Amino acid sequence: MPAWIKDAIFYEIYPQSFKDSNGDGIGDFNGIIEKLDYIKELGCNAIWMNPCYDSPFRDAGYDVRDYKKTAARYGSMEDIVRLFAEVHKRDMHILLDLVPGHTSEEHPWFLESSKVEENEYTDRYIWTDKWFHGAQGLNYIAGEAPRDGVYVLNYFKCQPALNYGFLHPEERWQKGIEDPACVATREALKDIIRFWLDKGCDGFRVDMADSLVKKDDENKSGTSVVWKDIRRMLDEEYPEAAIVSEWNKPQVAIPAGFHMDFFLDWEGNGYNLLMRNVENGRNNSFFYKDSDRSVLDFFEEYLEKYEQIKQQGHYCLITGNHDMIRAAYYLDVRELKLAYAFLFTMPGNPFLYYGDEIGMHYQNLPTKEGGYTRTGSRTPMQWDDTENCGFSTASADKLYLPVDKSEDAPSVASQEKDKDSLLSMVKEILAVRNQEADLRENANLELVYAKREERSFAYRRGNLLMFCNPSGEESVIEDFGLPDIREKVFAVGEADFVNGAYRLGEQSFVMWRI
Ligand code: NOJ
Repeated sequence: MPAWIKDAIFYEIYPQSFKDSNGDGIGDFNGIIEKLDYIKELGCNAIWMNPCYDSPFRDAGYDVRDYKKTAARYGSMEDIVRLFAEVHKRDMHILLDLVPGHTSEEHPWFLESSKVEENEYTDRYIWTDKWFHGAQGLNYIAGEAPRDGVYVLNYFKCQPALNYGFLHPEERWQKGIEDPACVATREALKDIIRFWLDKGCDGFRVDMADSLVKKDDENKSGTSVVWKDIRRMLDEEYPEAAIVSEWNKPQVAIPAGFHMDFFLDWEGNGYNLLMRNVENGRNNSFFYKDSDRSVLDFFEEYLEKYEQIKQQGHYCLITGNHDMIRAAYYLDVRELKLAYAFLFTMPGNPFLYYGDEIGMHYQNLPTKEGGYTRTGSRTPMQWDDTENCGFSTASADKLYLPVDKSEDAPSVASQEKDKDSLLSMVKEILAVRNQEADLRENANLELVYAKREERSFAYRRGNLLMFCNPSGEESVIEDFGLPDIREKVFAVGEADFVNGAYRLGEQSFVMWRI
């Protein structure tokens, strides 16, 4: 594991919407460079940037047309290489977004692969051998290519699946994972990885990392073969490079070779229940003041996985990402403070989605670039109260997406002046994380107090003890044998230890040194 991962706190940048430096209405690499000091001062020391490659943008860049070319709208190769250098100058790291499972239907490999004549790319994608054959339960497109066959999709219609083979090939058109054509796909992926690491990035967030090998790779042994091979290459050639998977199963992803995996929002799962849960039309997220949920709904699922991988890899908690509704849609500022205090003091690497540090609101917007309901979480960063919230000097109708024009739209400038703001609290808790070695140790989490019928809970990391009471009433917990408190390190709201009991004020979070 590269040493820098241990201390990394990530900031996710959706490049379209972060900072426009040339007034064309869309964010760019130079805009990100302008804001690196801001990210550093916030307390983050690493970045994950969403896809920035040449693309027709039918899925916001997750439909790559050329893996080795930057999208002109973000800047040139020189600009991105300068971005890498500026990041490193500040002792920070940056991950690009690697899309291994599919390309755009406009990728030259796919165009070649669609041809009748056999060529180097004939088997780079998954094609059946007859135009009227379905693809055995896999999603496919028929009737579009000169070639006699249908091709398998990985996600949207514009995203044909690259061919990493089948775990148990049954039909003639299905290749095994060690077939030369599938090995060639794997080698092509390595080539892309080497290309960007040589340019100076520090690794990758890997899109749909579990999606490579098809049918019936239920326990992902086939897909794991591919990633173990990639990890071997990284360990040998780029030991400082990091990979984090979009997989949501650390017990599979970490043994497959990833350094980190995300706990993602899937309806009703433990992560969803923390901040985004709606039950019978009512908000029942754990951090919502009036919810009746116990934190065990989260921990039972989390701990089972964490315990399996805590010695080898990181199970990462995120404030949100470009695929989910912003947390501020469900939680108010006080509730967000408690949620973030929790997320940022847990094991694994925290990931902060741009704008979540000021509680940017979810906007109700028509779909853009295949975003659908995700579009409202991808609006321009609100820097200040000047034109377009300081995001761009373009006229409002030229912006990638409209800025939040509501009266109560938060901004960095206004929250920087307010010591009680969400932004100030985020800076404070990230500073604590950066200072406290116990918070950067991965394997030291103990859930010391949590009950089915209670809202308050407590956890310990080495000599740090955290209590949280998300409810609207004070809660009193009798001493249950923990070491004495030496000092208060951080708090939201009121909390004390008096007369042999922990007294937690309404909606409070406290960190004590014991
Ligand atoms: C997951 C990405 O996060 C999402 O934005 C994208 O649409 C799909 N994968 C397809 O690449």
